[in-house]
Amino acid sequence: MSHRFASIPGDGIGPEVVAAAKTVLDSLSDGHGFSIEWMDFPNGAEHFLKTGEILPDDTISELSTCEAILLGALGDPRVEPGILEKGVLLKLRFAFDQYVNLRPVRFFRGVDSPISTEGRENLSIYFVRENTEDFYVGLGSRFTGSKASENISLERNRYKMKFKIDVEVEGESEGSYQIGVISRGGATRVIRYAFELARKKDRKNLTCVDKANVLTEMYGLWRDVFREISREYDDVETEFGYVDAVAMNLVRSPERYSVLVTPNLFGDILTDLGAGIQGSLGLSPSGNINPEGISMFEPVHGSAPDIAGRGIANPVAAILAAQMMLDTVGEHAAAGELERAVFATLAERGVRTPDLGGKNSTDEMAQAVIEKL
Ligand code: NAD
Ligand code: IPM
Ligand code: MN
Repeated sequence: MSHRFASIPGDGIGPEVVAAAKTVLDSLSDGHGFSIEWMDFPNGAEHFLKTGEILPDDTISELSTCEAILLGALGDPRVEPGILEKGVLLKLRFAFDQYVNLRPVRFFRGVDSPISTEGRENLSIYFVRENTEDFYVGLGSRFTGSKASENISLERNRYKMKFKIDVEVEGESEGSYQIGVISRGGATRVIRYAFELARKKDRKNLTCVDKANVLTEMYGLWRDVFREISREYDDVETEFGYVDAVAMNLVRSPERYSVLVTPNLFGDILTDLGAGIQGSLGLSPSGNINPEGISMFEPVHGSAPDIAGRGIANPVAAILAAQMMLDTVGEHAAAGELERAVFATLAERGVRTPDLGGKNSTDEMAQAVIEKL
């Protein structure tokens, strides 16, 4: 059996952690009777600065010949914020309609958390983050003068919409706006995914995250859809949580959560908070999932320019993202073994990168995981 995976290492520590994750997967594959054919793509800051190319449609066509994509991170201090983040990462999430961003949060034995883990050793929370709508759709503009208008066709997912926006300002003014969008179809598919996931957990509990008390239109629809779908899942306990209170509870009593379903932007913020209570951003993986199509796996963290190029980034988030990728393509035994190897490595506290309080390098951390396989 051979798997064809694409890799897009990207920027900063992206290439460092993706190389480590690839080494781990390659050494795992032999023992499980499969091989991996990697297709590597250079998209990111270096490639953009050299060629002016961000992510052409041809590349998307090539990527569609792969089973799944492993991505590092995008974003570089030499490039204006958003060009690469939106031009590569968001473009991929939209192009492949990866409508679920699945982000697990766990306490790992051997990792110090800033909050007490006593009695919470088995904490396991799943964030199901909507990944194609909300404030991420790219609807908005900056304008100077007394009038502005915008015609935009949104094709961020299969729920296409056209907007024509006219702005008239009294006098001359500089302004800006950015509009969030949630569609019934977009909300339905991700909320249903979250209910299905909650149903499989020991604690069948699903929290609907939003800010329906202020952003009443978008999150009013989001809540309506949640309520309607919840009627089909009698076995799943549900609650609504405003995002501000959820943030507080995640620090104070994270064990109250099992699965949370959240609009795109709040999911972005809460999952860095999730990484924070785990003890390091270097431990949090994520899967951009299209259950019927091509999914893409990446760490939750970014390109970390502050530590890039020093070989000290924690590769665990990328390794666990690769682990989710293996599981998704059906290599359950290999994925299980890899997960146990990561847990065992962390539990020993022997080899640790600086974010975990150690002095080891990215490669040493990856080698320690390989030794456990
Ligand atoms: P970041 O996640 O890159 O870094 C935040 C902090 O966490 C930094 O101090 C960094 O050193 C540390 N950190 C992150 N990953 C680590 C790892 N594996 N090991 C050890 N320490 C780690 O966030 P930022 O600094 O706000 O953003 C930097 C760039 O990355 C920006 O250009 C941003 O747009 C981009 N970004 C990209 C993604 C992505 O591609 N998925 C995600 C977030 C941010
Ligand atoms: C993430 C990142 C991205 C997001 C950015 C870089 C577009 O922060 O994957 O969490 O906001 O989704
Ligand atoms: Mn983020």
